[in-house]
Formats: sequence, C-alpha cells, structure tokens
Amino acid sequence: MGATRRQINRERLEALIARERLSFAQANPKSRAAFDAAGANLWTGVPMSWMAKWPGGFPLSMAGAHGARITDADGHSYVDFCLGDTGAMAGHSPPALTDAIAQRVGADGGITTMLPTDDATWVSAELARRFGLPKWSFTLSATDANRFILRKARQVTGRPYVLVFSWCYHGSVDESFVVAGPNDTAVSRPGNVGPAVDPAQTTRVCEFNDLDAVKRLLADQQVACVLTEPALTNIGIVLPEPGFLKGLRAATRETGTMLIADETHTISAGPGGCTAAWGIDPDIVTIGKSIGGGVPIGAFGMSEEFAERLLEDESADYVDTGGVGGTLAGNALSLSAAKATLGHVLTDEAFDRMSRLGERFADGVDVAISTHGAPWSCVRLGARAEYRFVPSPPRTGGESAAAADEQLDEWIHLYMINRGLLLTPFHNMALVSPATTEADVDLHTQLFDQALTELFGSDLV
Ligand SMILES: Cc1ncc(COP(=O)(O)O)c(C=O)c1O
Repeated sequence: MGATRRQINRERLEALIARERLSFAQANPKSRAAFDAAGANLWTGVPMSWMAKWPGGFPLSMAGAHGARITDADGHSYVDFCLGDTGAMAGHSPPALTDAIAQRVGADGGITTMLPTDDATWVSAELARRFGLPKWSFTLSATDANRFILRKARQVTGRPYVLVFSWCYHGSVDESFVVAGPNDTAVSRPGNVGPAVDPAQTTRVCEFNDLDAVKRLLADQQVACVLTEPALTNIGIVLPEPGFLKGLRAATRETGTMLIADETHTISAGPGGCTAAWGIDPDIVTIGKSIGGGVPIGAFGMSEEFAERLLEDESADYVDTGGVGGTLAGNALSLSAAKATLGHVLTDEAFDRMSRLGERFADGVDVAISTHGAPWSCVRLGARAEYRFVPSPPRTGGESAAAADEQLDEWIHLYMINRGLLLTPFHNMALVSPATTEADVDLHTQLFDQALTELFGSDLV
C-alpha cells in the first residue's frame, strides 16, 4: 500500500466507537457497579478526578497487578502499557520492591520518622551516578520537586520569571500552566483551575524547538530558570531538533539562567534519562514517579555550584516554614522503595532490554501505518513510544496539540481494552517495563494492525 494516505471515514469511526462502547459495558458489569457505588462518596466516582480520563464511561476496577499485567474486577487480564502513567515503569510489585517494603515496614519498622536512613544516602549516590549532578533532595512527588526548585531558582538568581515551553506539563505547578500567545505573550492554559495569579506574571513561554524565541525571552536576564523536559512527552512526544538543546544550554549559560531538566517521563531514554543519554549538562534535574517503583517519591538534583549558592543565602529558610518541605518527604519507606527499584529493577541492563522492546513496539506501529496508508506517525524515546494522528511527527507542542483527535483516541483505547491491552489514557502512549515481553509488544502490533483494517476497510477515500 505504502505512499497513498487514506482519510478517516468519520461515520465508520462513529459506528466502530459505538460498537466498542457496547462491548466494554457488556464485558465489565462489576467495574460498572463498583464505579456506581463509589459515586456515593467519591467525588467524580474515582479517588482522584484524573482517573476519570479512561474511556468507556467508567474505569476498570483494579483487582491486582503483577509485572506487566493487571487484573480487573470482572476477571479480565490486561497487558499494561500504561504502567500507572510511568509510576509503575518498574512493573507492578516486582519482588525486590515488595521484599524491601516488607522489611522496612514490618521487620525493621519505621515508615516515617523525620530521621534519615542509610537508604537515602545510597539513592542519592545512585542518582548522582546516573544524572551527573552531585547534590540531591527528596520530595513526595515530581510536582513538588518542580515546585520547590522553581522557588530555589528564583531565590538564588533574584529573578522573577520562569520560562517553559508551550503545552508542557510538569505536574500541578502554577507557573507551568501557560501556552504561547501572539508576540511572546503567555496565556493561561485552557482549563487552568483557580490560578492564584495570571501566569503571565510568573512565566514566559515559547514553542519547543524555537531557539530564537528562547534567546529573545532570556535576553533581559529576568528569567530565573528554564524548566523543560528534554523531549516533551505530555502532548505526545516532541523530540528536540538537532542543536536545540545545545543552543538552549548555551543561551541559559550566557544569560545566567538555570536550566532544569524534568526527567520524570524522559527517564525512558535510559538509566540517566536524556541528561545522560544526550549529554545535556543541566544545573538541576527533577524526577519522580518511576524511581519509587510506585511508592510516592520525587527528587531534585543540583550542581555543586547551585547547591552552594543556595546555602550562602542566609535569608532563606530551608529547614522550617520557608515554602519548601513536606512532612513525609524523604520518608524511610519511599527511600527503601527507591533503593530497591534503582538497585534491582530499573537497572542499566533492564533499560537496554526495555529500549529494544520500545523499538520493536514502534517498528510494529510504523509497519501497520505504512501498510494501511494511515495519515499517522509514531515517535519513540527509548522505552516509550506514542502514535499521533498526523503524517509527520509534530515539532512543537502547539503543532501536537492541534493534532489531537479525541474520537480516534477513544476508539483506539477502547479497541485495545476490549482485547486485553491498556494504553495510557493521555493520548496514545505506551511504556515498556522490565517485565514486558516480546509477546506483549507483538499483541499490540497485531491489535493495531487489526484496528486499522477495521477503520480503513478496503475502500480508498
Ligand atoms: C514531566 C512531568 N513532570 C512532573 C510530573 C508530575 O508528576 P506527579 O503528578 O507524580 O507529581 C509529570 C506528571 O505527569 C510529568 O509528566
């Protein structure tokens, strides 16, 4: 088939969605009942409102999960490529993690005490080895890591603004809820809930891969830091163009602006994320999710120079109520989980294997796209791959946002769920864990090909 690009027949798509919704409802009566019962006291029927993102009108009620598989209340088993949106990148309940948790919680005892443990020392040394930054602190989430480091960057530089890229996501961080408007303006992101101030007061924003705009916005030396993922992952995957990250590093150095690499998702590129894989040399790295194997944790790593500048400033309160903290941050349970996860599960060797499976996943998608002439593309970042409903991979967040197609998203997700496979419900992201197998990847390839056969039928439009 090759070069001929087909168009989507929307009537056919609507009929296919209706069929998949019906199958989903028929196959999952216990999940449906659990959702209805939960609605009595759980606001929006789920423990946190973003869990309402799943398609089908109600989420599957999870019964158990091991490795790369999840079982639901109705007894179905799924190959899991969502992996808790990266929180379970290590696979579900790997034995090394469950043993360490049992030891900490049961045999040793002491979940949170406000005292340090040896595990924290080990984990900070391991993160320093992986990301090349010597000084680390722990939080309970990647969001908090980002929040606290933005404060610290402003404190150290004495500058008011943060620069982010349009359609970025760094957790629920006020400063980051902006998109690029005309003439370098920052516009509050659609749906921004109750911002304390107009984010234009705190943030400058431009498109990813637009180095000229970055230089323009940094030129007056009013920006404390650039906060970015090395590749955007939360608006589909948008890879940096050749020279962009190098230019960004040079521009931040020339203007005394701190460069923060948020590796929360981009750790998929390797054990030290893109920072190590691409030699980015940021001043700060933030991370969370995967490193605790599912137990809440976040972390930020700092260069020696930045860490020293922080401590030289005696006006800042880092040990009490200065605005960076969290009673349970750095707790013994989180750190024992991180030690087990980094030491035994998300190892350098595991990343090699995960990356090869990521490649197999993307190759399978590419072949099906080409065979069916689908006007789509697939982008991979190590163990992570994602398809987007545009012929060429978007080069900015704005382009990728414009490519969103909620109908196609709903259909492909339901199609996969109904046949035993979970994709991340935010766009079409798949992540490989150390427990994922070639057969799991090949199941996706087979279902994706089958789905495209159904969508495009035999008639060229
Ligand atoms: C790049 C990035 N940073 C930070 C976060 C925030 O993570 P959490 O919600 O676990 O705090 C996310 C969440 O998706 C993310 O994708």
